Amino acid sequence: MRLILLGAPGAGKGTQAKFICERYNIVPIATGDMLRAAVASGTELGQQVKAVMDAGALVSDDIIIQLVKQRITQPDCANGFLLDGFPRTLVQAQALEAADIALDAVVEINVDDAQIIHRISGRWVHSASGRTYHVDYHPPRRPGLDDETGEALTQRDDDQEATVAKRLQVYHQQTAPLIEFYQAKAQTCSRLQYHQVCGVGDVMQIRDAIFAILDQLTTEKNAREKQ
Ligand code: AP5
Repeated sequence: MRLILLGAPGAGKGTQAKFICERYNIVPIATGDMLRAAVASGTELGQQVKAVMDAGALVSDDIIIQLVKQRITQPDCANGFLLDGFPRTLVQAQALEAADIALDAVVEINVDDAQIIHRISGRWVHSASGRTYHVDYHPPRRPGLDDETGEALTQRDDDQEATVAKRLQVYHQQTAPLIEFYQAKAQTCSRLQYHQVCGVGDVMQIRDAIFAILDQLTTEKNAREKQ
């Protein structure tokens, strides 16, 4: 299964990606995580992108497209993958098409801006694993510590309120047009489905709503392949 998870910063893409990839045995490809790993390890790529990310702007399409194309061709992606945070511009979506990468579904997680700001400002992350928590909605068992390793949680550099506002502005200007792009594509391409899920409410209920969509998709896909 090949999926795109679309949604504003803080919509819950990373949270849901974890559940989806475990259930359907597909590989998560989160461009934000890949870039943060490059920054943390001080590679040339990391040095190039740090300031851009800290400002809440988008890294250049060329860099991101190359990164994703390289990742998708790795053998572990043979059973499928979930793109979280890519594509984020029309140029990136067109590059995916030009590379002939057929997708099964785009799942959009929809959350309003006010909720997003509250969510992001309360987010804490276990940077080694990418596990996320929220002080109110999903607190760790021991404050400030990861549930599985007991290591300290941190806040992302780009999660300050002013930067979040900038990220939301960038989302509405550059990424939201992809909603219309993929909805239109789903109407003309029988393989591709477009689904919108309300991302406000209980995390597990949102997870189950996505599972219901993807279970149905899997059934349809299996039936098609048997024909
Ligand atoms: P990236 O890391 O992709 O960040 P993002 O899209 O802004 O998304 P987030 O990780 O902030 O949020 P999320 O939707 O995953 O939400 P989460 O599950 O954590 O990108 C960072 C930067 O990298 C970009 O700004 C850009 O500079 C660069 N970049 C990355 N990809 C790029 C690309 N393709 N092109 C160019 N540049 C790129 O949840 C958020 C919080 O809410 C958590 O605390 C969570 O616990 C909580 N939460 C989750 N679900 C719920 C719920 N239902 N109710 C209440 N709280 C919830």
